[in-house]
Amino acid sequence: MCGIVGYLGNVEAYPILIDSLKKLEYRGYDSAGIAVWCQGKIEVARHKGKVDELRGACKNGFEGKMGLAHTRWATHGIPSERNAHPHRSQDVVVVHNGIVENYMELKEKLRAEGDTFLSDTDTEVIPHLIKSHMNKGEDFVTAVRSSIDDIAGSFALGIIREEEKTLIAAKKESPLVIGIGDGEYFIASDVPALIGLTNRFIFLEDGDMAVMNEDGIHLTDLEGKGVDRPVQVINWTAAMAEKGGYKHFMLKEIFEQPRAISDTLIGRIREESGRVDFEELELPGISRFKRIWMVACGTSYHACLIGKHMIERNLRLPVEVDIASEFRYRDPLLTTSDMLILVSQSGETADTIAAMKEGKRKGAYTLAVCNVVGSTLARECDGVVFTHAGPEIGVASTKAFTTQVSVLYLLMLHMGQMLEVLDQDTIRQKIGEIKKIPRKIQLALEENENIVELARRYMKYRNFLYLGRGINFPTALEGALKLKEISYIHAEAYAAGEMKHGPIALIDENMPVVFVSPHDQTYQKTCSNVQEVVSRRGNILLCTDHDGHEMREATDTLLHVPGTDYDLQPLVFVVPLQMFAYHIANLLGTDVDQPRNLAKSVTVE
Ligand code: AGP
Repeated sequence: MCGIVGYLGNVEAYPILIDSLKKLEYRGYDSAGIAVWCQGKIEVARHKGKVDELRGACKNGFEGKMGLAHTRWATHGIPSERNAHPHRSQDVVVVHNGIVENYMELKEKLRAEGDTFLSDTDTEVIPHLIKSHMNKGEDFVTAVRSSIDDIAGSFALGIIREEEKTLIAAKKESPLVIGIGDGEYFIASDVPALIGLTNRFIFLEDGDMAVMNEDGIHLTDLEGKGVDRPVQVINWTAAMAEKGGYKHFMLKEIFEQPRAISDTLIGRIREESGRVDFEELELPGISRFKRIWMVACGTSYHACLIGKHMIERNLRLPVEVDIASEFRYRDPLLTTSDMLILVSQSGETADTIAAMKEGKRKGAYTLAVCNVVGSTLARECDGVVFTHAGPEIGVASTKAFTTQVSVLYLLMLHMGQMLEVLDQDTIRQKIGEIKKIPRKIQLALEENENIVELARRYMKYRNFLYLGRGINFPTALEGALKLKEISYIHAEAYAAGEMKHGPIALIDENMPVVFVSPHDQTYQKTCSNVQEVVSRRGNILLCTDHDGHEMREATDTLLHVPGTDYDLQPLVFVVPLQMFAYHIANLLGTDVDQPRNLAKSVTVE
């Protein structure tokens, strides 16, 4: 997830671009760059690091009344100046948010035409494509259209060239908004960038292209047919805007999960051929691995527990899961025939890094599942697979968790195809299932208003029990952790079958019990657990994909989610638990995005 801005008008572009870009830093902050057009020349500056470091690099020049700027969240190519946007080919300059899935083949084709490339990014093929089409006689706008036609993947684009004062914007899947000023136009990934500059916006839709110049703005689809989009007035405050209108980053990130999972799938699944591949990972001699270890902390540890179920059930490979702070001190029995998977949103968690070093010391193959390109784990493990969740600002992990589980599911399929223990039809069917998940999460999110009411009823309790079975015991663990860490209410998760071995002594009318209970082979067992709680005056919230009729009269509250394959249930079931924890904390008035005593990345032991 990156941030892009553009300007075309009658005042100096530089201050508008750099200040607007700063407001988009929550979308990514690996590197930043700017391009300013002045009388047929484009000046470009790029810098690793944050926008303020770029500001420092733009000492002089950069006068002009049109330009582009970009702040990066790396997906292809480490954070560096050479990989920073804007990217250019001769007089054409581009900023991009999204993923060009077919960039390798496009790069080869362009190289064959004599093009050379300076970066490792997918984006750099776009200005070269435009120049290639223009060299074949197409005008600027037509060449942009043809280039977009060549691209597979997602994009929000800002494009300018030296010969004319024209700003082109185009969108497919990645967000892009146009700001309308008096004789001036703005483009941005999000409304926040433009608050204070205008309150009139056009939200481009997938396939829209906008051509802006001093004569006005022209909206078309990618075939060039005119389209009509309403101008909307948005009067947000700056604080509201940075969170996209949400009160907290955590709520925004809960609602970003469909997009985050879609972005994490892009470029990795081929349903028609039944293949799953990672452009950034080569697993050499995978058959040598006799056991897999998965090690992490906190929410990432819960993702590992879910990964264990997926891999053992589908690949019949033994998986050991451990908490990093325990693993690193217990002289684990790793050998060179083990694969050690380290899961970490930040890639900087001290205990997980120490676990990685212990694994290396014992000769295991280390694989990072990470959300931050260029982080320590991403750089130092033998292999890495990235989640494409974009920056997660809220301390309580939400979209990072669901994208981690998604990556582990894809990794299971990838390993299954390499070990030839999963046939193509099975892989194709499972790809089909995970492709439905963004939509199913969207449906689960539609329960938000009901969950606000639930939170009002349950915010008075000081203790909760979360119960789940099988792959949904980790889901219960994650739900309990969310409530604990942002509302400061004590919440404990147990395997539902463990109730009778102790926890049931806790049950009374002051101990709500949240059941995570899909309608699967353990459903009937859970029904008896529910009866055990009811007979002790317990207060039950049932989270299920079933109409729950056997338990309807017993439960005070039913949280309904769409059903899905067993392996993918945590992705859908965790959503109401995230929202439940968020709304209780919000009603209690805690600091949801920065809860007391916590840090987003625990880089100390
Ligand atoms: C989860 O909501 C917490 N923020 C915390 O448990 C977190 O998952 C843990 O510190 C691990 O962080 P990492 O994924 O960046 O390694």
